[in-house]
Amino acid sequence: MQLPLKASFALATMLLTTAMFTGIATPAMASAQTTNANVATNVAANVASGAALYASNCASCHMANGAGGKKFGSAISANLRAPGLEKTYHNSDALILRAIMNDRDEDGETLDKPMLAWKGILTNAQGKDIIAYLRTLHS
Ligand code: HEC
Repeated sequence: MQLPLKASFALATMLLTTAMFTGIATPAMASAQTTNANVATNVAANVASGAALYASNCASCHMANGAGGKKFGSAISANLRAPGLEKTYHNSDALILRAIMNDRDEDGETLDKPMLAWKGILTNAQGKDIIAYLRTLHS
């Protein structure tokens, strides 16, 4: 099911908020919390901040829904939605953060242009908020 970005975001926020108040974690949240020790802050506020940062810095190349697929010469912007991104980066926020901040793939190789290192443009905290948001996007 494809929901418009705003609707999916509202839904994600609603689910997170409901889960926080009721103590019921959705399966996605449970896995995010248990398998991903780096995301201590995957809460609605971080997701909201990440959504805004994503919209203004990343959506132009990776598309509003994170699906990517935009061609730049021989490079194609990556799909940033789960489960693909998480699989590529071994479900490690540290590796995804390195990709965003330092422009490195999972093996430490430089990513194809026009992807760039966001270090100096975004803070690590902002990068982590974007990851919290990306983890709400699913193929
Ligand atoms: C000017 C276009 C452009 C912008 C803006 C951009 N990217 Fe990218 N990004 C790309 C391209 C092209 C690739 C594919 C590089 C490759 O395949 O080596 C990529 C790759 C990535 C990857 C690696 C994915 C993978 O599967 O290896 C991540 C993570 C990523 N971008 C996150 C972001 C985030 C987060 C932002 C915003 C802060 C952003 N990008 C902004 C073009 C862009």
